[in-house]
Amino acid sequence: MKRRVIPFSPPDISQAEIDAVTETLRSGWITTGPKTKLLERRLAAYIETGKTNIDCNIDDAIKKYSNKVVCLNSATAAEELNFRIIGIREGDEVIIPAYTYTATASAAVHCGATIKIVDIQKNGDVNTHSPEIDYNKLSDLITEKTKAIVLVDIGGVVCDYDKVYEIVEKKKNVFKALEPDGTPLGDLSSQIQKSIGRVIIIADCAHSLGANRVFRGEKKYCGTIADFSSFSFHAVKNFTTAEGGASTWRKIKDVDNKDIYKFYQLLSLHGQNKDALAKARSGAWEYDIIGPWYKCNMTDIMASIGLVQLDRYDGLLKRRKEIIQTYNQLCNSMYISYLIHSTDFMESSNHLFLIRIPEIDIDRRNKIINRMSEYGVATNVHYKPLPMLSAYKNISGGIDKFPNAFSYYSNLISLPLHTLLSDDDVEYVCEVLRSVAGELVGC
Ligand SMILES: Cc1ncc(COP(=O)(O)O)c(C=O)c1O
Repeated sequence: MKRRVIPFSPPDISQAEIDAVTETLRSGWITTGPKTKLLERRLAAYIETGKTNIDCNIDDAIKKYSNKVVCLNSATAAEELNFRIIGIREGDEVIIPAYTYTATASAAVHCGATIKIVDIQKNGDVNTHSPEIDYNKLSDLITEKTKAIVLVDIGGVVCDYDKVYEIVEKKKNVFKALEPDGTPLGDLSSQIQKSIGRVIIIADCAHSLGANRVFRGEKKYCGTIADFSSFSFHAVKNFTTAEGGASTWRKIKDVDNKDIYKFYQLLSLHGQNKDALAKARSGAWEYDIIGPWYKCNMTDIMASIGLVQLDRYDGLLKRRKEIIQTYNQLCNSMYISYLIHSTDFMESSNHLFLIRIPEIDIDRRNKIINRMSEYGVATNVHYKPLPMLSAYKNISGGIDKFPNAFSYYSNLISLPLHTLLSDDDVEYVCEVLRSVAGELVGC
């Protein structure tokens, strides 16, 4: 085997993204402005229709597509603002799966909530092998303090939202909605909680832009399934704006989308009632601050990368799918279990390729990772479960209480999956895995 260097997940930036950024830099407007607004509408159109090209300018897009997407500077910010909008605060409980990245949990902690961490299903979901929360444990955990459950679409594989909606509907009678407190945000949050009238379902869609699943009998894209969702556009994701993210939500009965959208803007821009573009208009300097809030807006530089990535996204997803098909064949031939990205009810966004080598412990798994890296192949582990991390050990009671998450993690390796891989690179990764696993494990 001739040695190659295979990075884990470099960004796929073409000349078109570079040209778009240059154009924005020269345009005279580089922070939040028309490009961010256009990206929001195009993303709204994408998650509503599955079409990446709405083929119209910003004025037409604003008329035609909903304002249910807000672009921000990260998924972590998007998730925290989702919690802030629905009124999560001290005294509330939020249910989180053990198998996820810290941001899923830390955003709830920032809002003062107590997090209730739940183990995953043994060996993951029966159809996709995705490390999904154990739905059977949810019902007993829901108390009158429970305000939200977060599901995580790991690797782009969409969770079983139908099941969670069914669980929270059944526990509707224990849900206690926030009362209005006379502040504009508190009153909006109360209106949202009262209208939903049950535990609110939040999706961490950091990996799952473009993924879809049959939900209530209909094919639905991530961002339109949970009550509130957050996406990540971080540099390692399928779709990137370098850093970046977005919040989306489903229509809430009797609550005006414009009010929700307005509060995301306020929360992300210091609580200031005019954004920089509005203030820059001649004579329009005066502003008010209606809450001491955050600064996590997306810039037009970032949005200009995103607009091009969206033009290219169908092609990027297609290439990921091809690579996954090759990896699937490899794993089948080696009797290795792997994340299933496509079923008759779900099409993932093909973000991560997780494999689990049978009968090995953490030490052996790490040896495989190290040996693959000697061959130049970078791999990863998604994820070290939250209860194993210092920040969550005490809150969760330790990893011994999460045997399924621990066992899933112990023999897991994430293979490189990105659109800069050539067919020869993919073949090389396969050869290296075959050789290293054969040598160290005999499979
Ligand atoms: C599952 C999950 N949630 C949230 C995040 C946070 O994303 P961001 O870096 O955009 O804040 C990540 C980032 O990797 C993630 O993997």
